[in-house]
This record gives sequence, C-alpha cells and structure tokens, in this order.
Amino acid sequence: MEELLLRYDKEDENKRRFKSEPIELPRMMARQNLIYEYKNYTPKYGWMMMRDKLEELDKQGKLYFTKNGKPRRKNFLDEYSGSEADNIWLDITPVGQNQSEIIGYPTQKPEALLERIIKMATNEGDTVLDCFMGGGTTIAVADKLKRKWIGIDQSVHAVSVSEMRLNMQQGKAIGKTQDMFATPFVKKLYKYDYDMLRYKDAFQFETWIVEQFGGVANTKQRGDLGLDGYIKQPNLAGFENLQGLRTPIQVKRSDNIGRNVIDNFKSACERFDKLAYEKNKAENKPVGFIIAFSFGKGAVQEVARLKNDEKVIIKLLTVEEIVPIAKKPNLRVEMEAPQPPKGGETPEGVTINFVATAESEVGIEFFSWDFHYNGVDFTPEIMLDKAGKQSHQFKAGHHKIAVKVVDGEGLENVEVIDLKINGVVQRS
Ligand SMILES: C[S@@+](CC[C@H](N)C(=O)[O-])C[C@H]1O[C@@H](n2cnc3c(N)ncnc32)[C@H](O)[C@@H]1O
Repeated sequence: MEELLLRYDKEDENKRRFKSEPIELPRMMARQNLIYEYKNYTPKYGWMMMRDKLEELDKQGKLYFTKNGKPRRKNFLDEYSGSEADNIWLDITPVGQNQSEIIGYPTQKPEALLERIIKMATNEGDTVLDCFMGGGTTIAVADKLKRKWIGIDQSVHAVSVSEMRLNMQQGKAIGKTQDMFATPFVKKLYKYDYDMLRYKDAFQFETWIVEQFGGVANTKQRGDLGLDGYIKQPNLAGFENLQGLRTPIQVKRSDNIGRNVIDNFKSACERFDKLAYEKNKAENKPVGFIIAFSFGKGAVQEVARLKNDEKVIIKLLTVEEIVPIAKKPNLRVEMEAPQPPKGGETPEGVTINFVATAESEVGIEFFSWDFHYNGVDFTPEIMLDKAGKQSHQFKAGHHKIAVKVVDGEGLENVEVIDLKINGVVQRS
C-alpha cells in the first residue's frame, strides 16, 4: 500500500489521489494524423488518441496540465483494480521490521504473507493444514479469516507458543475481554514413552529435549563447558545485529544429580555468557537450567542455598515438566495349544490361536500382527485388530511373530514370539 501511495502522489480538488501519465506518442510511434493542437499544445509526434477521446477525458476531469501547460492523463487510485501478483513479493515486510507482531519464534513469517496465501487458496469455512506449525502464524491467520485449521508440530514448545498466541488473539489472555464468537480449539499432545526417552542415544536425547524446551542445542558432541544448549533471549529493539544473550542449559541423564553438579554448572554459566549471567541475576531470573529425569536431595538443597546466600537462581527441571510422559501399554500374548492333527502333522502345517491382552490407563486402541517378522521391519498382515485374537497356519520350521499394541495416546509396545514347529510347537 505504501508503495502505491508513493506512485499515486497527487491529489485533486476532491482529495482523490492520482498519478499522471503521458498521452503523447514517442518519436518511434509518431502518427501524422494524431498531431493536432489541443488547448494551446501540439505534441511533436502526436497524441495517443483521437480528438473526441481527448475531449471526453477533459470533460470527465481526467486531464492534468503540467506547469508548462502540457496535458497528461490522470489515473485515479480509487479506479485502480490492482495488478496480478508477481512471483517475487516485495510489498510485504519481514517480521523483523514489524515489531508489534514479534513473538520470538526464530523463523516467524509475517501475518500479511499468510493472509495473502490463505485468501488466494481458500474460502471461509475451508480447512487449512500446517504440519510444521512453528510459532503458529498460519493457523492464527486462518483462525482470523474464519477458516478451520489443523496445526501440527513435533516440538511441544512450538505447540505451546501457538496455543498462547491463539488464546491471546481470541481474547482469552488475562485482562482481556473474551471474544464470545471465537471458535474453540483443542490441543492434543503426543505423550512420550519414559523407557524410550530414558534409553535413547544420549546425544540425540540432549538435543531433542533442549529443543522441546525452546532452546538451541549445542551441535558439538563435546559441548562448551559441558553445556548442552542455551535459551536465546530476544534482542532489544535497536540492537538486532548483536547476538542475543544466552542462558545455558545442561541435560543430565543420571538420577544422582548432587551438589557438585550444581556448583560446576553455576561456574559454567558464569563463564559461558557473563553478560547474560549478570543480567539474569540482577533481574532475579534463572542464570541457567538443568534438565534431568529426577534430582537428588543434595542438588535441591544446593539450589536453595545459592538462591538464599548468593541470590543466584538455577532452575531444576524434570523431563516430565517439559514433555508429557506416559508409560507404554503392557502386552502379553498367549498361544492356545494347537490341536494335534489326527495322525501327526499335515503338510499344510498347524493352526495356532493367539490371544493378546494389553493394559493402558488410557485404553487400548488396537493390535497389529506380523506373522513373518524378519526381526527388523514390522510389516503386519493384520493391521487393525480390535479384539486381539488371531489364528494362523504355520508350516514346520522356525517362525517369528511380532504383535504390536497401540494405546489411546499412540504409545506402542511390541512382543516377539519365536516358534519352532516340528511335529510339536515350541515357544522360546
Ligand atoms: C521453520 S519452523 C515454522 C515456522 C512458522 N512458519 C512460523 O511462521 O512461525 C518449522 C517447524 O517445523 C517443525 N518440524 C520439523 N520437523 C518436523 C516433523 N517431522 N514433524 C512435525 N514438525 C516438524 C519444527 O519443530 C519447527 O517448529
């Protein structure tokens, strides 16, 4: 819009904005029959139109006379119906220059950009899907434009930021009047299996949990001062070119986080980013975060002592405070003793009945069965078995059967059965 106002730089007596454009032909297009005098001016190579058209324009008040008395055509902004968008959009400014929109998400896109895309591609009531939601710009704009939406992100941090943003937009933030017509939405968080996290590769786990917390993970395996990442504080307006202050994060997998871990961490924080340390301390904010599955008494006491004696806050966070954790369903698969075929094993083999039973606090969704499991890829023949009961015929030989159960929160458990069939059925 600003660019348009620059181009339509004049105003007529009725305050209508317009720009003036030439109505004289250039030399290379000279037309003898269009060279005529109009209001004391005769163009050298001719007008762009016949006299009657020129008079018509004048009657409509659409001629503009320069200081030298040269007529030009007025093009009014309110009659401009726009132009087709090009494949490079320069009229939308990045969020960095539009401070009011900033939510602190690193790759945030401007709302005006998403507004254009959503309006181009959808109508009110349509559904917009963003499966890499990040700071939630797309879904927030979709919501404003009365579209239905689904937002997905692997990061709990991204989901929380988007949720807060929508709540603010819909007026659910404290101190705001709630928008009675706002469409309610639900947040569904995937739960993480405790054992899976606990025994995941250490470096992968550290990177992952730092990112879930909204931090930047250390990319080097041997991190700076044993730190695993940091939270970047947004820059102050006017200091955008400086690297933001960094508050360190350390991830510990052991259960015995004692006093010494806290003291070492405190001095690492001091050295990592002195400015951030001093600023956090002065503002009574944590100078660093330690993430672990649990903390020992020594650690908790030392954190309390540092706070009282030295006014230094170190925040202890359990993994469970960052990501929702659940126990995966338990699973047991029983076999019904096969009926011994009359007269010994038939060439077609034996039919075995399986019964799978599973328990989970949130209920069981279904079972899947792979009767030819290769030990690596689970490729089930039966995908959706609600009852957990199957019969299958086996020939003599070795067989691996994998049974998977999925619970109401999407957590899984698998049991693998090894069978040896040779006249008799043996399960090892
Ligand atoms: C570049 S950000 C999106 C920023 C967003 N356009 C905005 O304006 O705020 C990309 C997001 O994709 C998420 N992501 C990356 N891989 C993913 C995956 N496999 N499944 C779901 N989300 C994923 C990241 O967590 C990150 O939040």
